[in-house]
Amino acid sequence: MCGIVGYAGNRQAAPILLEGLSKLEYRGYDSAGICVHGVKEMQVAKAKGRLQVLCDKTENGQAVPGCVGIGHTRWATHGAPSDVNSHPHVSDSGKISVVHNGIIENEAKLRAQLLEKGVKFHSETDTEVVANLVGYYYEQTGNFIGAVRQALPRLEGSYALGILCTDLPDTIVAAKKDSPLIFGYGDGENYIASDVPAILKHTQTVSYMEDGEMVVFNNKSVRFFDFVGEPIEKKVETITWELSAAERGGFDHFMLKEIFEQPKALRDTLSPRLKNGEIVLDGIDLSAEYLKDVRKIYLVACGSAYYVSVLAKYIIEKACRIPTEAVMASEFRYSDPVVDEHNLVIIISQSGETADTLAALREAKRLGAKTLAVVNVVGSAIAKTADQTIYTWAGPEIAVATTKAFSTQLAVVYLLAAYMAKQLGTMDDETYGAWVEALEALPGAAEQILTKENVEKVQYYASRYYGHHDAFYIGRNVDSAICLEGSLKLKEVAYLHSEAYPAGELKHGPISLIENGTLVVALATVQPLFDKTMANVREVKARGADVLCVTLQETAEEAAKQADGILTVPTILPVLQPSLTLIPLQLFSYYVALNRGCDVDKPRNLAKSVTVE
Ligand code: F6R
Repeated sequence: MCGIVGYAGNRQAAPILLEGLSKLEYRGYDSAGICVHGVKEMQVAKAKGRLQVLCDKTENGQAVPGCVGIGHTRWATHGAPSDVNSHPHVSDSGKISVVHNGIIENEAKLRAQLLEKGVKFHSETDTEVVANLVGYYYEQTGNFIGAVRQALPRLEGSYALGILCTDLPDTIVAAKKDSPLIFGYGDGENYIASDVPAILKHTQTVSYMEDGEMVVFNNKSVRFFDFVGEPIEKKVETITWELSAAERGGFDHFMLKEIFEQPKALRDTLSPRLKNGEIVLDGIDLSAEYLKDVRKIYLVACGSAYYVSVLAKYIIEKACRIPTEAVMASEFRYSDPVVDEHNLVIIISQSGETADTLAALREAKRLGAKTLAVVNVVGSAIAKTADQTIYTWAGPEIAVATTKAFSTQLAVVYLLAAYMAKQLGTMDDETYGAWVEALEALPGAAEQILTKENVEKVQYYASRYYGHHDAFYIGRNVDSAICLEGSLKLKEVAYLHSEAYPAGELKHGPISLIENGTLVVALATVQPLFDKTMANVREVKARGADVLCVTLQETAEEAAKQADGILTVPTILPVLQPSLTLIPLQLFSYYVALNRGCDVDKPRNLAKSVTVE
């Protein structure tokens, strides 16, 4: 939800800023802008639309001189995408310019106060309030850093800010609260960015900014402070992953690359935690004594991570016999949840910065629950706030629609479920051994699905069904939970109306929507319920649906008697089956989207990190 970059050095800033923004476009892509201090004056270039429009407008930055600048890629919150509402925003005085990721919740109040003082506004954005507030204090004091320090405590909400002042043209001031911000150390040049890939080409040496911290830097010097102005020492860290991890590497889209990376991501997440037939969760404290006192487990998350939570309910209840509930983070906080110290609250988030999820985590802590986060982005707000964190080692996920992060979140749920069950004594040794063995086999099984032959089969069905207007995903038990994710993927990337229902629920209402040419994707991998699901398939076939069935090799022949198309997945321990069923559904959405001419990696209206409620 918006990305920011900043550069102070001796090279031309604009091309570096634009290149950095290209790595942050996943955070928002409805408009972009840069502000650079040139030899004589400050120059702002902005454009509605994809970053490419701004690149074209500025000759890839070549037309904008100057060696110090800030840049922004936007996902609109306050004010529609337009040139005027694009960042950077310049104060009415013309002296201060600001890029901002986050949301200023008291912007209306601050705007009214500044208007009263005669300050003029030109956009509808909350960010212009920041520019004008800093500008207002600067007019009074003539002290740029002091003006930022005066403004920050007046801002409610979340922000990562990059700020320039015309009178101090070599300097950038940046500050952070509840939105990510990284400082990058170069040789005779320094950087800020919302995320590592934006600066990784130039430096692997970074400091992660914490809430309540600001940094003042130019090409030679860097000073970190807290908001009251006390200097602070920052830990300097080295990024160990390569830039190639955040590049397409020969694939047409990040989404496809990330689907194919799933075996590796699963291996990286599972292998370090499976040792000599045991599940080892280093640094995690979930003792038998504690778990025996847990009356209910909540899983709280948004979007696809919520669907992992829906699956986790089946998995954890089966393994641990503790009542478990999946709750959408946006609802958790305002539902007066029955949560206290007898509850374990598991928070799931790829980005670790989703606003609703972070707020739910804080609420769970306030209510006294023990909190455990499953997070992909190291050092993110959720990872830092939770009592304990287990990282998914999916690597950077760039496509807006999640694939490999989902798979690894699910893998961590399996680890946790079996680990807790062992502690509690609710799983016998043989079953535990079978889980561990199946988890070891999971990455290899995922690989088997991603063969040329299988992918071509999915491509064929995508080309056959992409013209449909409506799709229904149906399945029973864990299949019904995977339906939710399969259906979301199709909506997100292919803009095809799609719904997901437990197969047995269909005839209680939604079946009235089934008519000639409705696409039904039926998941039938839960062996004991296969016949029942097939009965539901017959019902929709009788009403004219085209049915694509995903099932196990053993049941493919039987399923083919009812369905129009069949995709098979390898058989694994039933509880782990969803990890495999998911993969053809991801591929199906991808290829349907391609056939429909959609922008797969950057679907309309979406952003990867949703940092506003
Ligand atoms: C869907 C998708 C979203 C995210 C959701 C939560 O493909 O990616 O539904 O799962 O926005 O995001 P995180 O996991 O970053 O909290």
